[in-house]
Amino acid sequence: MNALHLPNAEFRSLAARVTDLAADLLAGLDELRAFPAVRGEQVARAFGAPLPEEGLRAGALDALAEVLAMSRAPTPRFYGYVLGSGEPVAALADLLASVLNQNVTAWRSAPAAVTIERQIVHGLAGALGCEGFSGSLCGGGSMANLMGLAMAREARLPANQSGAQPGVVYASSEVHMSIPKAMALLGLGRENLRLIGADEAYRLDPQALRSAIAADRAAGRAPLAVVASGGSVNTGAIDPLPQIAAVCREQQLWLHVDGAYGALAALAIPERFSGLSAADSLSLDPHKWLYQPLDCGMLLFRSAHAARTAFSCSGDYAKSLAEDPLESFAFFDESLELSRRFRALKLWLSLRYHGLAAFRSAIRGDLRHAQNLAELVRGTPTLELLAPVELSAVCFRYRSAEPGAVADRLNAAILRRVIERGRVYLSNATLRGRFALRACFVNHRTTDRDVRQIVPEVLDAARECLGS
Ligand SMILES: Cc1ncc(COP(=O)(O)O)c(C=O)c1O
Repeated sequence: MNALHLPNAEFRSLAARVTDLAADLLAGLDELRAFPAVRGEQVARAFGAPLPEEGLRAGALDALAEVLAMSRAPTPRFYGYVLGSGEPVAALADLLASVLNQNVTAWRSAPAAVTIERQIVHGLAGALGCEGFSGSLCGGGSMANLMGLAMAREARLPANQSGAQPGVVYASSEVHMSIPKAMALLGLGRENLRLIGADEAYRLDPQALRSAIAADRAAGRAPLAVVASGGSVNTGAIDPLPQIAAVCREQQLWLHVDGAYGALAALAIPERFSGLSAADSLSLDPHKWLYQPLDCGMLLFRSAHAARTAFSCSGDYAKSLAEDPLESFAFFDESLELSRRFRALKLWLSLRYHGLAAFRSAIRGDLRHAQNLAELVRGTPTLELLAPVELSAVCFRYRSAEPGAVADRLNAAILRRVIERGRVYLSNATLRGRFALRACFVNHRTTDRDVRQIVPEVLDAARECLGS
């Protein structure tokens, strides 16, 4: 018998233990700290044992309780970064997807998985007003942005055959760090990302964009693409998409919309995302505002031909033997990835289980939480709001009469203290050089009561930091 053989009865018993652990975690979430009270040294020691030569069998699972205890639990009071808290029906689908172990390269390798993924992609594109777009799931927004810019480069300044040619990409100063990273990886160079100062609401100014393009053309450089934010990472600012699309049309530039944080909110507030369908490519992150467990990113594009131009380069061993257009379909012709897990199963099951209306309603709930927190901040004389609340990110800070750097240090200390206290988790942003506390609501577990705890926690932490 194979040394890795697992009797079916043993699988059932292990699966029951794992699902019990998961169900207990979910049942107790409300009581858990928003960040565990652990230090680096302690966690390193807990998991520092060498890998065993002989298997521990079911005893291997005993350590899972400690893994959970030393993890950041997906509590209702986590508001850091842009992170959902994992919809459990989707998590169950993930288990099954791993057991089924499809390699979603092409229909010939994974017929149901490929068909479901294509259906989900078309369905979500349609629900966002981008009918006719196609695309694929990927690891996250960074990967989707890299692929979107790879398509832009190949469409405007082809590089795949002979190497990269110089070209300029435009974005606001609020653009996500994955865009300069993509510029570097694509051989375009970070210096050729023209960061245009954002307006008072942290949006890209189309007039300044036009001027920057004209200046580059006058200097003999080759404008290539514009990246517009469909919800910037710091403040949730939505760049003026219709005006930016008009500039792109007029200047024949590729329009990539980074909607990793915000664009799925178009399911609930489509009127705020007009112009989305003018994108040539659009990044989305269902692991953010569709509450899916990591990882689940998505790239949508208007032209499958452009995707194939950028990505198709298959070895003979992978080529389809079928004539049928459905059966000959290969994701690897339209994506950077070859081996891919069955990410679509979680999204498909979760959407089928709850229905789109439930997701629209949860997104509306997050938008309401952000407005409620902004109102609470405005009503607290010792706090100040640092940016308009366009989506679900709220940037604020403790007021200080001290000069900039001292006020920044005080707010950084307050943030550390808030996290140590463990009741809520906030993260931070730098806005016009000022340190901001930041709460971002993309958490379907958060209630109005949870939101009301944020300001008192910040004020208590501030009192502790100020030693009064
Ligand atoms: C606007 C924006 N773009 C891209 C990303 C990167 O997404 P991921 O972390 O899934 O790679 C983020 C992450 O927060 C984001 O907010």
